Amino acid sequence: MEYSYEDLKRWDLEYFWHPFTQMTEYAQKDPLIIDKGEGIYLIDVHGNRYIDGVSSLWVNVHGHNHPKINKAVREQLEKIAHSTTLGISNVPAILLAKKLAEIAPPGLKKVFFSDTGACAMEIAIKMAYHYWQNIGDKKRKKFVCLRNGYHGDTIGAMSVGGIDLFHAVYRPLLFEAYFAPSPYCYRCELQADPENCGLLCLQKLEEIVASHRDEIAAIVSESTVQAAGGIIVMPDGYMKGLREIADRYGVLLVLDEVAVGFGRTGKMWGCEHEGVVPDIMAVAKGITGGYLPVAATLTTEKVYGAFLGDYTRTFYHGHTYTGNPLGCAAALANIELFEEERTLEKLQPKIEHLKGRLEEFKELKHVGDIRQKGFMVGVELVKDKDTKEPFPYGERTGFKVIYKARERGVVIRPLGDVIVILPPLVIDTPELDRLLDVIKWAIKEVTEK
Ligand SMILES: Cc1ncc(COP(=O)(O)O)c(C=O)c1O
Repeated sequence: MEYSYEDLKRWDLEYFWHPFTQMTEYAQKDPLIIDKGEGIYLIDVHGNRYIDGVSSLWVNVHGHNHPKINKAVREQLEKIAHSTTLGISNVPAILLAKKLAEIAPPGLKKVFFSDTGACAMEIAIKMAYHYWQNIGDKKRKKFVCLRNGYHGDTIGAMSVGGIDLFHAVYRPLLFEAYFAPSPYCYRCELQADPENCGLLCLQKLEEIVASHRDEIAAIVSESTVQAAGGIIVMPDGYMKGLREIADRYGVLLVLDEVAVGFGRTGKMWGCEHEGVVPDIMAVAKGITGGYLPVAATLTTEKVYGAFLGDYTRTFYHGHTYTGNPLGCAAALANIELFEEERTLEKLQPKIEHLKGRLEEFKELKHVGDIRQKGFMVGVELVKDKDTKEPFPYGERTGFKVIYKARERGVVIRPLGDVIVILPPLVIDTPELDRLLDVIKWAIKEVTEK
């Protein structure tokens, strides 16, 4: 079929409703239409190359079009693309479950597959609830979660999410949950200074758990960073505090590693930074290195055991593509690459380099907080640097910056007025420097001129 850019542009607008996109605004610009990928670069239909500065929405690890992952997917394709895992099994899904159990925080041995982060979290929530039903503690139906948290866009995942911009309109559809303060030290809602914010937030959360102790099924939190909430790095000790509270009151701890898992924070798992092991852990995004939609919910023998026995104890959840062989083959190759290419070891000096370079951003007139955990950065744009007064929302300053950066060959996507920098883990230092140079230039162009 022959088609021109103009054809694609027309059809894109005519037929394709894009996610998290105001289509009125989208229609006003020539769309960027990607045709290919090569390493850390996205290549559009005109042949222009762009650094993939947000790893295609936080998923790409080893670069696009990686020979090893390509080969694994091709070889699997020659065998079979898909067969169900409801009641039967397949080779890549078995091998991936085993591999995940081997590399997961200790004790998370049981792997339930799905295909998106939201799904992995839906499963985590249902699993936690159903666990208590199966062991006969039937009053435990409630979740304690965090304001400013994000776990995906399905009804259950939104119910435990706390970002009003995304969730408020749907609130009447959601189940009720208890919300504890976000450990947002930069703008602590409890007005604590940054050193005490974590502790105070934990105290508030504990008060909620204590006053509803018999009805709580689980504490639900993102691990290490509230990602979509603006790259809010949790204070040291916070994750450990969550584990301790869960243990003290005998409730489950569900951690969402969807954004931070697979090396993003410099360790394979975010919770590894504090030696915390949740009872249930959701992973997705980086699991296939950015190739195919695979997600997983991992849990312990204890939780799994509660579902054993007769059919009435079955975990009633499954998706048509659960354990899809192509996706699992990509994920296996991706995880092997971490080992073969010593990805995490090579990442450490780049994290330090990034940290050093971010110092320059602090000097920009309209940059407020800069938040970094490993290879995950949020640069907050503010109208007034001293008071941290934000730009008016309608000005879309963050979006103006990303469009500016695109002019110089960088694709990024903001979270409001937080510029997210989250390149593939394999980016080399000169490429990282170029990415940062362009973003810095774009921020200055938009906010200082
Ligand atoms: C922490 C976290 N959980 C869940 C999700 C949802 O993942 P998905 O978009 O694959 O449904 C995201 C997506 O950004 C996320 O950051």
